[in-house]
Amino acid sequence: MSRTKWRGGAMLAPVPPAIVSCASANGAQTNLITIAWTGILSTVPPRTYISVRPSRHSHKLITESGEFVINLCTAPLARAADFCGMYTGAKVDKLARLGLHAIPSEEVACPSLAESPLSLECRVFDVMHLGSHDMFLADIVAVTVDDSLIAENGKLRLDHADLCAYAHGEYFSLGKRLGAFGFSAVKKKKKHSGKPAK
Ligand SMILES: Cc1cc2nc3c(=O)[nH]c(=O)nc-3n(C[C@H](O)[C@H](O)[C@H](O)COP(=O)(O)O)c2cc1C
Repeated sequence: MSRTKWRGGAMLAPVPPAIVSCASANGAQTNLITIAWTGILSTVPPRTYISVRPSRHSHKLITESGEFVINLCTAPLARAADFCGMYTGAKVDKLARLGLHAIPSEEVACPSLAESPLSLECRVFDVMHLGSHDMFLADIVAVTVDDSLIAENGKLRLDHADLCAYAHGEYFSLGKRLGAFGFSAVKKKKKHSGKPAK
């Protein structure tokens, strides 16, 4: 087998095409930006980041307000996510153009996206200027989830959310389930033969 070497590049995949909502400090404008450069920084306390080019309108809004909401993207929202990544909120009211709805968040002034099944409400605690993008590091101060995804036993059924992934310029819905956390470590139960042990 041979492998080709390229110079370093942002080739991590798949990543979430998150639809991030942000708003002006006075709340007059709500904007949506698609962000693929995001992830979790810490579980306890829950912390995340988004990396945003300074040229984005959203960069200005998040710098001003210190808040944003990461709204998970579903397959039915993939087209909207792409649209939010193509047009700037400096010129286009993306929510209105897409017929999407902003709803009040629980802990931050910035609204969440009603059509997204799960939203992470974030408050910025630091900004790192790392190159082409600025990294907004944030505490996840609340999570809201569509009740239809919570089973009777209280378990979150994110597998029912029809989530969307983004890999090297293309959008995908998730494929078949391969296992659950720790499935490699699960010991097989010994079958009881019914015969007495020797
Ligand atoms: C799938 C996808 C992922 C993107 N990821 C990022 C990202 O992580 N950071 C970023 O600054 N721009 C990213 N963009 C580009 C912005 O979403 C795009 O420039 C957007 O129009 C900016 O909107 P705004 O000017 O209203 O903030 C992405 C675009 C797409 C389509």
